[in-house]
Amino acid sequence: MVTRILFVCLGNICRSPAAEGVFRHLAEEAGLGHVFVVDSAGTSGWHIGEPADARMREAAAMRGIRLTSRARQVSQDDFDEYDWIFAMDATNLRHLRRQAPSDYHHKIRLFREFDPEEPGADVPDPYYGGPEGFVEVLDIVTRTSRELLAFLTSDRHTGTHDPA
Ligand code: 4NP
Repeated sequence: MVTRILFVCLGNICRSPAAEGVFRHLAEEAGLGHVFVVDSAGTSGWHIGEPADARMREAAAMRGIRLTSRARQVSQDDFDEYDWIFAMDATNLRHLRRQAPSDYHHKIRLFREFDPEEPGADVPDPYYGGPEGFVEVLDIVTRTSRELLAFLTSDRHTGTHDPA
């Protein structure tokens, strides 16, 4: 059975493409590529059709990860089609919960709930900062995705439902 995961940030050109690429890479590395469908989207439509920001792609390429996403905006269908929707920060979490019918709220979580170092924090928006911000995003996204992958493949839940 396939688990469908959507990562969501504001523009869908920095943080959520990084999470999409890193999570997919880790799943494939663990021989679990076939278990997941992974995508990303933005709460805004500002960058629709664009590839990930060149600085984000460069930082990921340094770690052997190719980011292939094209920006799109979250749609109502996403709430039905994905098993899990992970917001990259609290603002986007709030926007998703406002947009989604309440039946779907259990699927929508803060990504860094799973960060072993700073659980519950935002993934900082690197867009207006220097190159070090993109490296920091990758560090956060990598350790959090490791925990998330372990969680989603553990016995603690069956693949599509709320773990609570
Ligand atoms: P993202 O970063 O939400 O991680 O994709 C941003 C990208 C673009 C903008 C802001 C944040 N923007 O203001 O255009």
